[in-house]
Formats: sequence, C-alpha cells, structure tokens
Amino acid sequence: MRSVDEITGGKRLRRMRKADWARRLVRETELTVNDLIWPIFLIEGEDQTEDIAAMPGVQRLSVDRAVKAAEEAAKLGIPAIATFPNVAMEKRDTTGSHALDADNLINRATRAIKAAVPEIGIITDAALDPFTDHGHDGILRNGIIVNDESVEQIARAAVSQAEAGADIIAPSDMMDGRIGAIRDALDEAGFQDVAIMSYATKFASACYGPYREAIGTSGLLKGDKKTYYIDPANTEEALRETEADIEEGADMVMVKPGQPYLDICRRVKETFQVPTFVYQVSGEYAMIEAAAANGWIDGERVMLESLLAFKRAGCDGILTYFAPRVAEILRSGG
Ligand code: PBG
Repeated sequence: MRSVDEITGGKRLRRMRKADWARRLVRETELTVNDLIWPIFLIEGEDQTEDIAAMPGVQRLSVDRAVKAAEEAAKLGIPAIATFPNVAMEKRDTTGSHALDADNLINRATRAIKAAVPEIGIITDAALDPFTDHGHDGILRNGIIVNDESVEQIARAAVSQAEAGADIIAPSDMMDGRIGAIRDALDEAGFQDVAIMSYATKFASACYGPYREAIGTSGLLKGDKKTYYIDPANTEEALRETEADIEEGADMVMVKPGQPYLDICRRVKETFQVPTFVYQVSGEYAMIEAAAANGWIDGERVMLESLLAFKRAGCDGILTYFAPRVAEILRSGG
C-alpha cells in the first residue's frame, strides 16, 4: 500500500483547517449584514401584531409596528426591507384594483417608514396577489390569468408604490413584458431613480405555503400558478427569463425559491454578471424552524449555513425572514 504522501503527492488540505485562525484566513465567502433584505408582513390597525402559525417567530405588523421593525433593522445595519400586505378581504376583487389606491396598506407603510427611517431601502412587490379575491398574481378572466391587462395594472401599481416612496419595485408576478412596462411607466411618471428588482426566475414551487397563510391567500387560491411561474424542471428557460428581464431594464434579478435552486443562482450570476439576489422563501424558513423546534437540527447553525450557501453560489444578497436574527449574530461576532 502507498503512503498517504505518495497518494497525495504531499498535498495536505487539512493543514489550513487545523485551527480557527487558519480557517478564517482561507475562507472564500462571507455573509455580512450588507447581504440581507428583510421581508415583513403588514396588517391594518394600530399596535397590532399577529402570529403566523406556519412561520414561528414571524408576525404580521400594523404600520406603526412596521416602522419600529424598520428602525430596528436600520440599527442592525440591514440595508433594505421588503413589505407584503395582508389586505382586508372586502378590499380584494378580481382585478386587484386596490393595488392602485394611494392609501392602501403597502403605500401607507412605505410613507410611514420613509418618514421615520429614511436611511433604509424599501422594496415593494407590484404583483396583484394580495389584492385579488382569487389570490393569483394577475387578472383572472374566464379561468385564465390574462397577461397584457395584468401588465398594465401591475405597471400602474408600481407607479403608485413609487409615488409613496418605494426605492425598488420588485414585481413577483412573472407576466411577460412586465419589466419593460414598469420601466416605461416609472420613467413617464418621473421616477427614473426608482430601481427594479425582477423576480426573474420564480418557480412554480411548493415552498410558498406559509407565505400564503401570512398574506391570507391560501384560502382563496384555486388551481395553481403553473401557467405563469417557471416549471421547476427548467434551467434554460430560467436563463431566458433572466435575459429578457435584463434587456427590458431590470437593475437586479432574483432567484426564488433559494436552497432548491442554488444551481440557478450560480448560472444566472455567471451568465449575466448582474446584481443577483435570492429569496429564501417561507417554506424554507418553516422547514428549518420546524426541525429546530423538534431538536432535530441546530437551528442557528443550519440558518447560517443556508445563507452562506447563497453567497457561495454567487448571490449578492438574500431576502430572508431570518434577517434580524442573523444580523444580531453577525453583530456580536458570531
Ligand atoms: C406572489 C408571491 C409569492 C411569494 C412572494 N410573493 C408566492 C406565491 O404566493 O405564489 C412567496 C414568498 C415566500 O414564500 O416567502 N406574488
């Protein structure tokens, strides 16, 4: 039998793993607070918080509480938050018309947060699902999510969000042509400085369940979103979607969900070299939390590892419900 030195030719990769200082010295990727975007859920009322059963540790917040959350996030150094509203049922209709209301929940939250915490970035979703009575991201006509009419509505919603002070419009609906339409609408309304983060590769995933509970669409949604989200089997199509969105004017692109789609993150980043984000979605959060609550995994370590993996895959930033928890850990040098 050959000696180990004969087998490896003297290479010993363990040399640089022997101590913490050595591991830190050769570490290739790092997670920092600058990588974090915190998605928060909104509800009506004042001084209200509501637990979300499928997302332990995450709550829906009334606007005043959301302002407090934004203050906390800014203190922790989190660069941006993303807001998602749980809209009163009586305000939802087939076309999601309340999305255009200057005083809807998203817009009121944006104005309040901008006034109190001007240093934090605000990202809003222009998709219609929180506003439709069927929970789809577009307008439903005769059983079909109609593309072009939805795009017009989504572009108008984006302008209303920009008027309220949103810094980045992040449309999550996957309608064809919506990035170009939003860019045109923003520019025509004088919002050249408002950026677009495209949910460029949003897959028809089973990992969105807890989010739908959070915004109150799980009971409404009939059928599925397979006619507009990408088939989880497809990589080439995901790259074509991303290319189209960049050509139409996206400033940043996003992959969603995260952990099951790390290959997509890597290919998007390498192919296009544009700011690439990933959404660690509600189901991913719930899986980690559930296993941790059972004592089956070390929740904190799995959380940190899941986020580091996104950095290793090439992502520039991560939307994650863990954001404040991680920021605390990073701040204390953990
Ligand atoms: C819909 C939307 C979804 C999420 C954000 N916006 C998915 C859906 O309901 O189809 C999912 C976020 C998450 O699961 O954390 N436009």
